[in-house]
Amino acid sequence: MSRSKRKLEHIRHALSREDLGINSFDEMEIIHQSLTDIHWDDISLQTQLGELTLSSPLFVNAMTGGGGEKTEAINRDLAIAAKETGIALAVGSQMSALKDEREMKSYQVVREENPDGIVFANVGSEATLEQAKRAVDMLEANALQIHLNVLQELIMPEGDRDFTTRLQQIEEIVKSVGVPVILKEVGFGISQETTRQLKEIGVSYIDVGGKGGTNFSNVENKRRKQPLESYNGWGIPTVTSIKEVKSVFPECNVIASGGMRNGLDGAKSFVLGANAFGMAGQLLRTLMKDDLETLIKKVDHVHEEFRIAMMLLGAKETYQLDGKPHIYTGSTKTWLEQRITT
Ligand code: FNR
Repeated sequence: MSRSKRKLEHIRHALSREDLGINSFDEMEIIHQSLTDIHWDDISLQTQLGELTLSSPLFVNAMTGGGGEKTEAINRDLAIAAKETGIALAVGSQMSALKDEREMKSYQVVREENPDGIVFANVGSEATLEQAKRAVDMLEANALQIHLNVLQELIMPEGDRDFTTRLQQIEEIVKSVGVPVILKEVGFGISQETTRQLKEIGVSYIDVGGKGGTNFSNVENKRRKQPLESYNGWGIPTVTSIKEVKSVFPECNVIASGGMRNGLDGAKSFVLGANAFGMAGQLLRTLMKDDLETLIKKVDHVHEEFRIAMMLLGAKETYQLDGKPHIYTGSTKTWLEQRITT
């Protein structure tokens, strides 16, 4: 199957899920406070993600490109929404455009529509340093995402099976590509052990891409004749993954993603110490099932929800949410008791 056909199938299967249901954010409660001493107009959504200054804590996470006119149209709309609402945007994996220049247009449309916006390039962990540099140049990207997706590859019959040199390649890219490099999962979460390995090679930006939203076991299984359904529940939930990363690498720039449903989930991730949060499947679903205008309203709505949490918790700046009083329940509590000692 061609890469572009596969991308369109990913979109179709990822969208087939109606809503995000319950996830680990339902097992974390922020403690309500009845007194606040700030004015709504003094709240700033500006967020510092390492070297990057973002005008919002929210960004559109990596999804598409390289599937011809359809993915170009999707990326154009995502870029317009990002520009209108002042949020950053990551493109989907550029590996196809690195191999076939005709595919570049469907990614570059993002920069054309939003010349001054924050754009993240995206490659797989199989990328060489030279490919990573070209991916960044293609978009004049402000940062580069490298996705880690071993389980997805294993469920894909045509997926990669050799991961022997990945860590060395990532290290080379992190040291020499010239923009911040974000290591991200695609819905299975990042563990303490992986965090330590990434820290060792100089990674300082991690997008946990946890379990709770788009599920690539499910998506790939829908494309298999004989599904590997036992892996549909695999992965580290987003809340626990943020805790896993922070517990061994407190100064890491952490991005929360994987099943982020609303601005309150975003605010909870900041309470856990995240420095930005990404939404993917849900924004695409809004765009595809409704339209660009509804997508823009959705982003505005998420911003309003996030601001309400800031107001309630007395935080004028997004980083001030970090560590606000909260509790865990259910399996999240059990997980943290067994895994997090700090
Ligand atoms: C993705 N995702 C993804 N990630 C990545 O790094 N490169 C990619 O090319 C893609 N492609 C892709 C296509 C589609 C249709 C979806 C829905 C998602 C994964 C995405 O960035 C994110 O990590 C997960 O989807 C989890 O976030 P949500 O969807 O639960 O908000």
